[in-house]
Amino acid sequence: MHGTARGAPPCVVCHGAHGEGIAASGFPRLAGLPAAYLRAQLSAFADGQRENAVMAPIAKLLSADEEQAVSLYYAALPAPELANGAAASAGLGALLALDGRWSAKLPPCVACHGPGGIGVGASFPPLAGQPASYLEAQLEAWRQVKRPPGPLGLMQAVARRLSPSDIAAVSQWFAAQPAGGGR
Ligand code: HEC
Ligand code: HEC
Repeated sequence: MHGTARGAPPCVVCHGAHGEGIAASGFPRLAGLPAAYLRAQLSAFADGQRENAVMAPIAKLLSADEEQAVSLYYAALPAPELANGAAASAGLGALLALDGRWSAKLPPCVACHGPGGIGVGASFPPLAGQPASYLEAQLEAWRQVKRPPGPLGLMQAVARRLSPSDIAAVSQWFAAQPAGGGR
């Protein structure tokens, strides 16, 4: 809420008062994401493995204890109830998300990210309701090796098999899914 004495700005400025993110600005939701995942991302921003001009300097200002505490805090917040208002269209995005493209050895995204992309366990973060522009940027980052490969390099393998139009379509589809799984 207030940032740190070393000058890290308050997370709420960009990630929302309840960690819900700010879709219009492409700032991702943090609420309800796995703590270990959040912590790994902060470390990756801090050591430069995950490149981002906004988050890297902020992460560098956090101590190991602060990284841990803020990750536990956001992991314990409930996922926001509603999607960010984007429209889910049938078509290419839904096809990739739900069926994959086995001819290209691409499994359905929901096989790992859970039904509607609500996230599964500690390793598979939610995609539902994240800003489309944020999701697109992550997939591009893996294609360009600007984000660490993550567990077993799974996402780098997935992202390499997606074309730019695939990335746009599947990102739009997940952005329109309810973050709380439609509860
Ligand atoms: C000035 C805006 C801004 C502030 C303040 C900010 N962030 Fe971020 N944050 C971003 C942006 C932009 C991204 C997306 C980076 C990317 O595309 O890789 C992001 C991404 C993240 C991610 C990765 C999420 C994911 O799903 O992988 C984490 C974790 C994170 N921020 C934590 C924090 C924490 C903790 C704080 C407070 C100490 C904070 N941020 C403050 C703008 C901000
Ligand atoms: C075989 C399992 C698997 C499949 C299939 C998969 N993912 Fe992932 N995905 C992961 C893992 C593991 C991570 C966490 C990576 C990390 O820790 O850096 C992840 C993370 C992501 C992220 C980053 C989320 C964030 O908050 O920054 C995006 C975006 C993403 N996946 C999109 C997709 C899309 C789109 C598809 C389908 C085309 C897909 N994934 C299919 C395993 C998978």
